[in-house]
Amino acid sequence: MLCAALVAAPLALPGPAAGEVPSADALYSNGPSGRYVLDGTWYRRTDPRDRGIQSGFQRARALAGWQAVTIPDAANAGDVSERSYLGGVHWYRKDFEAPAGAVTNWMLRFESVNYRATVWLNGRRLGRHTGGYLPFELEARGVRKGTNRLVVRVDSRRTEAAIPPLGVRDGGKYVGGWWNYAGILREVYLRRVDTFDFVNVHARPRLDCPTCDARIYVRAIVANMERVPARAEVSATVGGKRIRFPVTTIRARGFNLFRGSAGIPSPRLWSPEDPHLYTVELTVSLDGQVVQRYTQRTGIRSIERDENGRMLLNGRHLTLRGASLHEEDPVRGAALRPDDIRANFTLLRELGANMTRSHYPMHPLALELADRYGIVVWSEVPVYQMRDQLFRKAAVRRRAVQQVRDMVNRDRSHPSVIVWSLGNENTSKPGVGFTRYVTTAARLAKRLDPTRLVGLAFPGYPTVGKQSLYTKLDALGINDYFGWYDGPLGSIADRAGLAPYLQRLHDDYPRQALFVTEFGAEANRSGLPTEKGTFEFQRDFLGFHLDVIGKMDFLNGALVWILRDFRVKPGYDGGNPQPRPPYNTKGLVDDTGARKPAFDAVRRLFRNDP
Ligand code: GCU
Repeated sequence: MLCAALVAAPLALPGPAAGEVPSADALYSNGPSGRYVLDGTWYRRTDPRDRGIQSGFQRARALAGWQAVTIPDAANAGDVSERSYLGGVHWYRKDFEAPAGAVTNWMLRFESVNYRATVWLNGRRLGRHTGGYLPFELEARGVRKGTNRLVVRVDSRRTEAAIPPLGVRDGGKYVGGWWNYAGILREVYLRRVDTFDFVNVHARPRLDCPTCDARIYVRAIVANMERVPARAEVSATVGGKRIRFPVTTIRARGFNLFRGSAGIPSPRLWSPEDPHLYTVELTVSLDGQVVQRYTQRTGIRSIERDENGRMLLNGRHLTLRGASLHEEDPVRGAALRPDDIRANFTLLRELGANMTRSHYPMHPLALELADRYGIVVWSEVPVYQMRDQLFRKAAVRRRAVQQVRDMVNRDRSHPSVIVWSLGNENTSKPGVGFTRYVTTAARLAKRLDPTRLVGLAFPGYPTVGKQSLYTKLDALGINDYFGWYDGPLGSIADRAGLAPYLQRLHDDYPRQALFVTEFGAEANRSGLPTEKGTFEFQRDFLGFHLDVIGKMDFLNGALVWILRDFRVKPGYDGGNPQPRPPYNTKGLVDDTGARKPAFDAVRRLFRNDP
């Protein structure tokens, strides 16, 4: 049985792993005390036939068949096959010892798992969650002394009705706009909870005029994790002021919403030029003893929209220029480390960007960097290129609206976020389904946060007339590929059509805040500036579009698509005559980190903009 001898048996790893004590740390500042990042060694195995549950992976003790990894991890980062793109089942496990201390309650927080997660602790199922890019928490019932075994089954297979959608349409056309990285794509935290837990904190500034005194409203939802009522004393400080909240007895396993505010006289405002932050520090105490703290940085600024559709930040019009992002690393896929996230913002700052965007809620650290560096964010749920029929299903609408709720609840204290976007390039002509989704989601976003603009992004096609639904939104994002793609009936093949089209959009939507949310051209080689796909063409293309956009004072911002090259799907060409599938090479920086000639050209144009 020679062949058997030649088959490489999985590395025979030692017996059950010893539990590691997680580090008392968090990779981003905002949030509760008592967080331990589950770093160190995890183990992963694939489950190609999806038989892991029957095989008892959730109770596995031995490590045979498992390979050591660290988290965050994209199990298919190096695999650009169709099978990788369409998704599969992977298992993760982490053996840990609970940090010392007499505490009976623990919470687990997963910052992002793509796409469906099932979680067990010591062989007992804790719960499940569907959807990436936003966190979910589970009560870690059953943490014991000694080694605890956390096991997560991750299923990245999706359908066209998922958010974001995935699959292969008739005729072999792949659905989706970026690679379907499978795994635990952001950190996992264990949180110690002694009786009370800050479930959600929202620090919301109110500034009635640029020179007015301000007020910061703080809303904190506190949970009582115990099975007996408990008396919660909540307090907060901000800008040197103390906020006292009424002492409240919270019923067993119940919640309470604490609301308070503090006046901030002559506030130092937050803006791209001066991104000043205020820190809200909260405590919750039991019998006079602080049991948990919560830090939330925020900024005092106002967002309005004038009758000409121009956004005003602190009463001033801004010229917003920048580039969009995907969370993608050439080696680690979507499993970015803090340094990868910081590198993206270093590039944005070198570019002279004061705005950025992604097709999904960014990593919490990215938003903290945006707050700190004064880079405003178009924040979007991954409701991506979905047909109207899909939105006629109540379950699809519910899933999409839930992601809007989770995005706003997670990020509404960040001063950098200026727009809640309900999706990208969905049905060009909203039908019954999409209209119901947008109407419901916009109403929810406004209720959770009346201080920001609510909008969506659509492809800039002159063949699509005015849509009444869009007149009900605050902001509209135009994805502009004039002179790159042909578009319907060749309507955008000639870039000369850009200026009249943008003007027509303003005529159609005079009060909506218009942004050019995408404009870009592939570039993966040198050549003639008239040849699509060359660096020279990209530099000329971006210069032309910025020139046209710069002359239209009703536009609020423009975002180059995209900062870095990224993987899309098998066979992707992005309109490039000499493509490099699966890459989208519209980046200003290629996948090796090398800057293309357009990077400096755009940098000069951004800095010379009035
Ligand atoms: C669309 C889409 C992007 C995509 C881009 C492109 O506008 O929003 O996700 O990458 O086009 O064609 O490169």
